[in-house]
Amino acid sequence: MDQPARACGIDFGTSNSTVGWLRPGAPTLLALEDGKPTLPSAVFFNADEETTCFGRAALAEYLDGYEGRLMRALKSLLGSSLIDGQTEVHGRALGFRDLLASFIGELKTRAEAQAGRSFDRAVFGRPVRFVDDDEAADRKAQQTLAEIAAQVGFRDVSFQFEPIGAALHYELSLAREELVLIADIGGGTADFSLLRLSPERARRSDESHDRREDLLGNAGVHIGGTDFDRALSLECVMPLLGYRSRMKSGAELPSSIFFQLATWHTINFAYTRQAWADLQNIYRDASARTELDRLAKLISAREGHWLALQVEQAKIDLSAAPTAALNLDRLEAGLGHTITGAEFTAATETLVDRVAACVSGLLNDAGLRRDQVDTIYFTGGASAVPQLRARIAAELPAARSVEGDLYGSIGAGLAVEAARRYG
Ligand SMILES: Nc1ncnc2c1ncn2[C@@H]1O[C@H](COP(=O)(O)OP(=O)(O)OP(=O)(O)O)[C@@H](O)[C@H]1O
Ligand SMILES: [Mg+2]
Repeated sequence: MDQPARACGIDFGTSNSTVGWLRPGAPTLLALEDGKPTLPSAVFFNADEETTCFGRAALAEYLDGYEGRLMRALKSLLGSSLIDGQTEVHGRALGFRDLLASFIGELKTRAEAQAGRSFDRAVFGRPVRFVDDDEAADRKAQQTLAEIAAQVGFRDVSFQFEPIGAALHYELSLAREELVLIADIGGGTADFSLLRLSPERARRSDESHDRREDLLGNAGVHIGGTDFDRALSLECVMPLLGYRSRMKSGAELPSSIFFQLATWHTINFAYTRQAWADLQNIYRDASARTELDRLAKLISAREGHWLALQVEQAKIDLSAAPTAALNLDRLEAGLGHTITGAEFTAATETLVDRVAACVSGLLNDAGLRRDQVDTIYFTGGASAVPQLRARIAAELPAARSVEGDLYGSIGAGLAVEAARRYG
């Protein structure tokens, strides 16, 4: 191919997004922020200055203490019942669809500025399952994403499974045929595809061949890094704020506020007047006053995302070290807490089991023997979680593990697909 492609590939991720555009002699991923190819999927509505910013800048303004509202894990709204609802921003109602549109529109604008041209055709990635065990809701999630893409000016949009995007990227590096399990574990979902990849097959796909016979199966489950954050938060951090403590009557404290704070896309729900009134009521009858004082401080200072970021960082640290130290001084002067890898593993055991069951089901459905798979290609940030990677590798003891570009392979592969589909 010696012409730049007419369309781009868009990996709208739960945590990070990328845009790929295939053109000769230049990197495929377009720089979206500060020269970097990823734009964190975050929006901050700055109430002090009545401005809106995106990506790393959104996280930085929030952490700098500006008044306003931070939104992260926007993609988790797709396929949830929240998508048709709204939130309040700058004193006005903002529909969640419009929130997603503002982020996806920003991706388009930045990609176009970088490419020096406009894109009205795109291949969007999608998880194998937006919603587990509900076909209608899953279809609606893709339809909603297509409508939002049209709303921001894409005239022609089609979809490809995210792990197949990663496969098309990995295939570019192959010298011989391999049977590969692609394991893409991102912020929101764990997605798997089983494919035959080779340079020869890649060439055939240029001749608008859809590769159906090379695909042995797809499977996915709605579990990703944000679920690991939630589990770690509930198990190891929320108890420091009163979760699972008792009222004077002996009953356990209501847990909903702890679940809201531990879940990225519901953190702002903990800041409503109703939530504050509920907390006052609980406080009167609670025995764990020290812990609830921390909770009240967190909520009144709107530090929910700050805490979630500390937990996420601890999770990331635990991929490389046996323990991770949290500095919680925004909740109480001098408060710290150490989490061990063993605690993290215990907190996430059921999640890891469910992901492993998804892989095992895929292999069974494909009718393959475990020793027939040559390679496991890991991509997505959460594929770095050691206990998860070990469990997936244990499903395929004969396969070698390859670590891809954890953040870029899907956007780059979707660009390959966009060139194939749209020229
Ligand atoms: N070294 C690491 N160890 C563990 N987790 C990590 C590491 N680096 C990043 N993560 C986690 O990976 C997730 C983000 O991965 P990625 O950017 O691939 O997701 P995404 O593509 O936005 O999400 P999805 O594909 O599910 O929509 C976050 O939950 C992040 O905390
Ligand atoms: Mg992803």
